[in-house]
Amino acid sequence: MNEYIRVYSDMAWNKVPIKRGVCKMAKIISGKEVSANVRAQVKKECDELKTKGIAPGLAVIIVGDDPASRVYVNNKKKACADVGFVSEEYALPAETTQEELLKLIDELNNKKEINGILCQLPLPGHLDEKTVINAISPLKDVDAFHPSNVGKIMIGDYHFLPCTPAGVMEMIRTEGIDVNGKNCVVIGRSNIVGKPMAMLLLHENGTVTICHSRTKNLKEICSSADILVAAVGKPRFVTADMVKEGAVVLDVGINRDENGKLCGDVDFASVEPKASYITPVPGGVGPMTIAMLMKNTLKAAKIQNNI
Ligand code: GUN
Repeated sequence: MNEYIRVYSDMAWNKVPIKRGVCKMAKIISGKEVSANVRAQVKKECDELKTKGIAPGLAVIIVGDDPASRVYVNNKKKACADVGFVSEEYALPAETTQEELLKLIDELNNKKEINGILCQLPLPGHLDEKTVINAISPLKDVDAFHPSNVGKIMIGDYHFLPCTPAGVMEMIRTEGIDVNGKNCVVIGRSNIVGKPMAMLLLHENGTVTICHSRTKNLKEICSSADILVAAVGKPRFVTADMVKEGAVVLDVGINRDENGKLCGDVDFASVEPKASYITPVPGGVGPMTIAMLMKNTLKAAKIQNNI
């Protein structure tokens, strides 16, 4: 006879079958811990570079006063200080023209003390993101958004990886999760997360499916995933009925629910008992993104100094 545990989710108690002899609680992958290790390694290498007279430098551009962007930029500056990088913030008014922004990027491209340039997105509507991304030197493009870096990732011959997908891969690697031959499903097809995420899983020999808003049989496809990455931007979109028993569930979402509470794209309460590994929100993928930005900036400094 089946035994069940009761899990509270979506205002109701749901029965989730217990498999005796099988660990029924997922391992929660702490992004705080994994990112702290990455940052410690970056700090160590930064200290070594400083003994050679090299101080890695990151320029962060923010245009306008989007509150979420302001929080992200502050966190990036703090991370720079923690690992020992020089950071320069360029906070431009919302009315900044495309010409003015491109002129600043050109100056930073030529500034020796700056190894990495990041222009926080989204930009105000009158600015063209594509043109701005294209203007950043690929050698200083620590977001890995420039088409030349995107192309390099596609062929598996790259310097920089986009920070969020790279952070997810770092968590997978740290936990010793084998991607080889696994069914991997990525929900979301953005240039920043979904598409590069799929590519990185493919590089590790995963069999990858990308789902999006037009996907038919979403539930069925997700339920086939050994490794499920949620990057949809919808609070608690992934529910237990979309997850295979024992799946690895990685939650890229950072959302506010109807009560203003921070939550991911995964309904953690109902999915956690079914998963073998799961990332929480907050404290999961989020801290990894900034740690990988530090890693990219360090790499940029090394490349530009022929190390
Ligand atoms: N806005 C949201 N995420 C990111 C990111 O990773 N990089 C930049 N530049 N802007 C963002």
